Amino acid sequence: MRDISIKDDIVLGMKLSAFGKKITTKSGISVLMDDLGAALAAGSDMVMLGGGNPAHIPRIEGVLRDCMNRALADPGRFERMVGDYDPPTGNAKFVSAVANLLKKHFGWPITSNNICLTNGSQTAFFALFNMFAGRFEDGSRKKILLPLAPEYIGYTDVGLTEDLFVAYKPEIEILPDHLFKYRVDFDAIRITEEIGAICVSRPTNPTGNVLTNCELNKLADLAGAHNIPLIIDNAYGAPFPDIIFTDADPIYNDNTIVCMSLSKLGLPAARTGIVVASKEIIAAMAEFNAVMSLAPGGLGAAMVTDLFASGKIIEISRDVIHPYYQEKAQMTVDLLRSKLDGIDFHIHKPEGAFFLWLWFPGLTVSSQTLYEVLKDNGVLVVPGHYFFPGLDDDWNHKQQCIRLNYAGDEAAVAKGIDILASQIQRLC
Ligand SMILES: Cc1ncc(COP(=O)(O)O)c(C=O)c1O
Repeated sequence: MRDISIKDDIVLGMKLSAFGKKITTKSGISVLMDDLGAALAAGSDMVMLGGGNPAHIPRIEGVLRDCMNRALADPGRFERMVGDYDPPTGNAKFVSAVANLLKKHFGWPITSNNICLTNGSQTAFFALFNMFAGRFEDGSRKKILLPLAPEYIGYTDVGLTEDLFVAYKPEIEILPDHLFKYRVDFDAIRITEEIGAICVSRPTNPTGNVLTNCELNKLADLAGAHNIPLIIDNAYGAPFPDIIFTDADPIYNDNTIVCMSLSKLGLPAARTGIVVASKEIIAAMAEFNAVMSLAPGGLGAAMVTDLFASGKIIEISRDVIHPYYQEKAQMTVDLLRSKLDGIDFHIHKPEGAFFLWLWFPGLTVSSQTLYEVLKDNGVLVVPGHYFFPGLDDDWNHKQQCIRLNYAGDEAAVAKGIDILASQIQRLC
């Protein structure tokens, strides 16, 4: 199916609406997902360092399997899990367990009325971005401000209107041992009438950056002062899945919208996103769910309710998931340092998530060409230029970076890095 392309706004001779055209235009993300899917389906020995899949961590898989077995063993529970629609805010027991957990763990002043589930957090971003930006009834247009590009590729195409984002180049701090760190350039940021909300992923996909407490508080103050929400994408953050390696304090207030997910702890197939926000925004999200899908899918929520109610999710995130990725990050950075010796390269300081963001200042080809060379030689990565939604600037840095997912099998990651090292010699 995926090789059928929709030309302009015509499907089988029938004309598509502006929405139809926008949503069916091949996006960067769909081309990459196709490459990934094709390699997986062909069972090829392509080394997959490209996608956003979390690792298969045996201890976590064991915990999830136990959750499912318990649900199956409990008379009536499985039947309720699969046989009933949840309310538009999602499975009430799970929502209550999440509210209690966040209240207890972080001291956030929230109840179940502050939480709504969505079909993956990706769906929450679609709803939120289009609620706060786009075309307004008075004819004005607003955008989502991304204070630090590079940012998550998945935001790029969710706008119902064009030009939904405005993003800012970061300040770059060069660190010892081939590391660097991006910082928000607050002198550059302008919050005009045109801005409907601010959004950051923290930890950031693709870079592994974690905005400092100071940066996040400043953004929250800016959002508050302009009466617009600060959307914090916490897909990799605390307290679950806790793939965050710095002392970063989470924040929540009436003006923030915190988006979480069950995906990165090992349940991407459950498609469960969690939005924490003011009661008013949660009511709006519930309306969105009702219209788009009647109710968010409830299987993932029902499966892990006990893990959240007991607080065990915090323990396994802290004691299993967090160290698993932190060790892998360190090992992969060490390997890159030794294999790329002699090359001019920098790695963004890995502070969270499960990607390494590599910067080759002397790269003589575009990041897309590097991607294709690597694909032809048996390794899939993600070319860096896709990660700059809202930054139209012709900045050559965009063409000098790639993202590697280091969550997979150790031997495969090492093989992929060998291939990268041999090709990059020629191209830098
Ligand atoms: C930063 C970030 N936010 C959101 C998502 C969406 O995750 P999901 O829709 O599975 O919850 C991802 C997935 O890769 C991500 O990396």
